[in-house]
Amino acid sequence: MEDLILRLLAKSPADRPETAVAVAVQLQRIIAAGVQPAPQEPLPDAAAGQQAGIWGRFVGRRDEMEQLKAALEAMLSGHGSLVMVVGEPGIGKSRLAREFTVYASLRGAQVLTGHCYEGEITVPYLPFVEALRQYVRGRSDAALLSELGSGAPEVAKLVSEVRERFPDIPEAPPLEGEAERLRLFDSVTRFVCSVSTSEPVVLFLDDVHWADKPSLLLLQYLARNVRSDRVLVLAAYRDVELDRTHPLSEVLASLRRERLFERVLLRGLPAGDVFAMISAIGQQSASPEQPVTSEFAQAIYRETEGNPFFVEEVLKHLVEEGKIYREGGQWVRDASVEDLGIPEGVREVLGRRLSRLSEPCNRMLSLASTMSGGFSFDVLLAVSGEEEAQLLDLLDEALQALVIRERSGAGSGIYEFNHALMRQTLYAELNTPRRVRLHRQVGEAMERVHAANLEPHLTDLAHSVRSRSLPMKRPPSSSTSPCKRTNSRAGRTSRSAANYSLPSARRTTRPAIATRRRRCFCAHRTSRGSWATQCGWPVRRSAMGDLLGPRTGHPTNRSSTCWRKP
Ligand SMILES: Nc1ncnc2c1ncn2[C@@H]1O[C@H](COP(=O)(O)OP(=O)(O)O)[C@@H](O)[C@H]1O
Ligand SMILES: [Mg+2]
Repeated sequence: MEDLILRLLAKSPADRPETAVAVAVQLQRIIAAGVQPAPQEPLPDAAAGQQAGIWGRFVGRRDEMEQLKAALEAMLSGHGSLVMVVGEPGIGKSRLAREFTVYASLRGAQVLTGHCYEGEITVPYLPFVEALRQYVRGRSDAALLSELGSGAPEVAKLVSEVRERFPDIPEAPPLEGEAERLRLFDSVTRFVCSVSTSEPVVLFLDDVHWADKPSLLLLQYLARNVRSDRVLVLAAYRDVELDRTHPLSEVLASLRRERLFERVLLRGLPAGDVFAMISAIGQQSASPEQPVTSEFAQAIYRETEGNPFFVEEVLKHLVEEGKIYREGGQWVRDASVEDLGIPEGVREVLGRRLSRLSEPCNRMLSLASTMSGGFSFDVLLAVSGEEEAQLLDLLDEALQALVIRERSGAGSGIYEFNHALMRQTLYAELNTPRRVRLHRQVGEAMERVHAANLEPHLTDLAHSVRSRSLPMKRPPSSSTSPCKRTNSRAGRTSRSAANYSLPSARRTTRPAIATRRRRCFCAHRTSRGSWATQCGWPVRRSAMGDLLGPRTGHPTNRSSTCWRKP
């Protein structure tokens, strides 16, 4: 079956099955050989899509996918490389990478994925820890030991599971600053290359604009040293987040000088793909001749400029308002396009969607927005002050509205926002004292709830520690207060994860914020209706007043106060 799928996906038409009949014959053979076809999947309705983190079928991006496939082909024949997927928030970087990694795994690649999370401080090398941990867990002792080779002590510093499984691995003797870091980089690189001798490796690092500096340097080191190996490093970042002083800008400049990476630049989907996307979300059974009424699709394309996240959010908003609904595989609307009231900016549409949720649900989501790496029910319960049953209802409300989802399928117990932009919207609304208070409460709750196994929660803990040290009136602390213990524990673990790393804290300084606002203003002035991208926000002209001025208003009344047109 895999072989058939790959032939159907082949780049050259000559390599694909010639006719649909040939495909049918092949399928018959597979069935006759005893392989039962998978049960017909229900069309991706909201709930199913939400579990997968996907709402609709993947559309377009053919050229970009071809570029990635070409890099994969080169890698499979021993020419590793670094490819960067670049674009504004919501443009489809993660989705493209996800679609590509599925293809890569069908081609036999071992796919390792690591994420970077937004926060003023992060645990060093977190995306690598995440990616390597996945691999380590699935590997037998003998195979893993042989792949780790002499670099085992260094890899064990990064991935605690390695030390847990092989407590006899000797500690590496300390070296002076830079040499110690190089030894770590070399050990990780040799480990990945060693893995790639049995299976080609695709290492995907998402949102590296939020990566800590040590991770970026390791990324750079990998890019330099996998060129003769079956290793493809794929990294996604928001170009609009970078200013001259951003750590990634520096790393990109030197990678560029050395011609060490290829860029896959994502811009808005063309109108045709937006039409396809809308009809795909409308249950995929629309007739190809008239997928959606073109007037409606045109209006959405015009407002969203082809940003798929924006397209999805507008559709969800219109469905929630009862302005459009699905009937017989078609989107149906009773009002004229002008009367639909399509929101003019992402922030407006997100605000309106949040405003439809109950006030307690908004409060819970605001609290959750302080946890950038995902949140658990237990921590929410400990901090929110809600009854257990009530909190479950609130979670359901947010899940149903597709504002949050459960991470990695059902049963993980960790929830995350459907998109970082939703979290950022809520977080931006919290005033500083409230943020500080929530961070402190969350940090203390995390330490209580996860006392037995703190490690997976260190990023959030570290974030809480940093964020709660903003100037504010603090409660009297004692040497045994949970707050103090968390401080030292998170700080200590952060250091021990990479005591040889560069400073891990990255703060958003006031001048950086001022620069961003200025750039945002310039971007707006130079192109009417363009995305105010320098803020990381695909926001159109009408929302600019809100970006430049203070935000006010109650979260449950966003559309009228926070994001009204100036
Ligand atoms: N080509 C596409 N076809 C269909 N849906 C898409 C496509 N690209 C992105 N999406 C959807 O748009 C939303 C935002 O995409 P995402 O990859 O998360 O953006 P980014 O990572 O650039 O912020 C997701 O729900 C995703 O599934
Ligand atoms: Mg993404």
